[in-house]
Amino acid sequence: RSTRFYDFKVQTMKITKLCNTKDIVTINGMYPGPVVYAQEDDRVIVRVTNESPYNATIHWHGVRQKLSCWSDGPSYITQCPIQTGHTFTYEFTLLQQKGTLLWHAHVSWLRATVHGAIVIYPKTGVPYPFVYPYEEHIIILGEYWLRDVVQLEQAVLASGGGPPPADAFTINGHPGPNYNCSSNDVYKIDVVPGKTYLLRLINAGLNMENFFAIANHKLTIVEADAEYTKPFTTDRVMLGPGQTINVLVTANQPIGRYSMGMGPYMSAQNVPFQSITSIAYFQYLGAMPYSLSLPAPLPSFSDNLAVKTVMDGLKSLNPVSVPKEIDSNLFITIGLNVQKCNSKTPQQNCQGSNGGIMAASMNNISFIRPSISLLEAYYEHINGYYSEDFPGVPLKFYDFVNGAPNSIPIDTQSLRGTRTKVLEFGSRVQLILQDTGTVTTENHPIHLHGYSFYVVGYGTGNYNPQTANLNLVDPPYMNTIGVPVGGWAAIRFVADNPGVWFMHCHLEIHLSWGLSVVFIVKNGQGELETLPHPPADLPRC
Ligand code: C2O
Repeated sequence: RSTRFYDFKVQTMKITKLCNTKDIVTINGMYPGPVVYAQEDDRVIVRVTNESPYNATIHWHGVRQKLSCWSDGPSYITQCPIQTGHTFTYEFTLLQQKGTLLWHAHVSWLRATVHGAIVIYPKTGVPYPFVYPYEEHIIILGEYWLRDVVQLEQAVLASGGGPPPADAFTINGHPGPNYNCSSNDVYKIDVVPGKTYLLRLINAGLNMENFFAIANHKLTIVEADAEYTKPFTTDRVMLGPGQTINVLVTANQPIGRYSMGMGPYMSAQNVPFQSITSIAYFQYLGAMPYSLSLPAPLPSFSDNLAVKTVMDGLKSLNPVSVPKEIDSNLFITIGLNVQKCNSKTPQQNCQGSNGGIMAASMNNISFIRPSISLLEAYYEHINGYYSEDFPGVPLKFYDFVNGAPNSIPIDTQSLRGTRTKVLEFGSRVQLILQDTGTVTTENHPIHLHGYSFYVVGYGTGNYNPQTANLNLVDPPYMNTIGVPVGGWAAIRFVADNPGVWFMHCHLEIHLSWGLSVVFIVKNGQGELETLPHPPADLPRC
């Protein structure tokens, strides 16, 4: 096991895209940012120095952070932001983890440009459980904004309405030829005929789930959220923000230039989105440089079936140990709602549905970010910043029959608060995540920090324990689950990592609207069951 050191400098940089020059925030002047390379079980140390005018934090998305909650990174949850001119060093072990993950800023909307890949190779001498690829490439799907994203978040929140679409989709930072002024701003992979490539796909975008496909080529999924899956061959994949999927592609078509396309999956109704697709090239050696490329077979933006097909294809490769018994069974609704405006509310703040203010909630609680770090408040016993009364079922919503909802949600309001849910160390937890439809139903990519979880079931409509057919044999082990539009997902994990762990929708606007909850996992008895002291350089608020 070795230690990998990285030096991250948060810096602004001038960039020209879409005929427009602006400042963006980067790590070390790179967009997308530097790749963190490591091997399973390695120690990773990243010193982050903030040379930008904005507050910064970095989150290591999908890293399970065993006993290292202080290095997790979500602002006001496990740390206060790193202020301009300050440094914080993140330290964690990639314990029993290999595959592709991502790191990203976890404060305001800085993630738009502050993100990059984490590539974790197997231990030396341990092969991949699939054909050894001739080459590997990282493919980051992103969203490019002409506006300053920190100001954009504030403006959208102040309006009460939804966000505008991004100005462009990007593949590794390049919009591709479908956009103005971008005919040369295209990402390209050169491939050798007959060879097999491993593509590490990452969705680092803010507000859009996306399909990815390559013209005339099949994709074989071999890994999702940095866990091996049974090989599954498909024409396209869908990734919600925060998700990673590794696919194998063989260059087995006639020599030519083929499009790799990225286009939106938008399951909600009446939501504006960028409908131009971003393309990159999958170009065979020997192809004419300007040959026409066939379009990638992207499904329509509302193709829920295509999404289900990909999800149905994800099964753990190796036998897994899913908790069979459950100690803590929580039913959590996720959804958007509207806070009504009254005569005192300024009209410019009421641009949400039906003239209200958009909000989002879990179990009718719209999460309010505290003004200090919750982990610090918990660890130092500082009272007054949060409560421990997050309800295990929705506050006001359904009638329950046999432990399951029996009717359509009726509430249109949510309460606001910083409520947490306490979990005993070692408890076996099941969460039923239920999409509700007070404003619109939508596929929500729900991400849990500090853990991977087994996705034991999902379906459309309301969860019903009588008919839910749970897979306890080979469910995928993930960190982000796209809860089906208007449907549910059941996830299980053992709460064996003490700390304060965020769970939220990875659509950034939904996070801003409060679609999140915090779990406090208590210490166990043993030395390896106890959260360590905070690092000396931990940023304070
Ligand atoms: Cu990738 Cu809390 O996020």
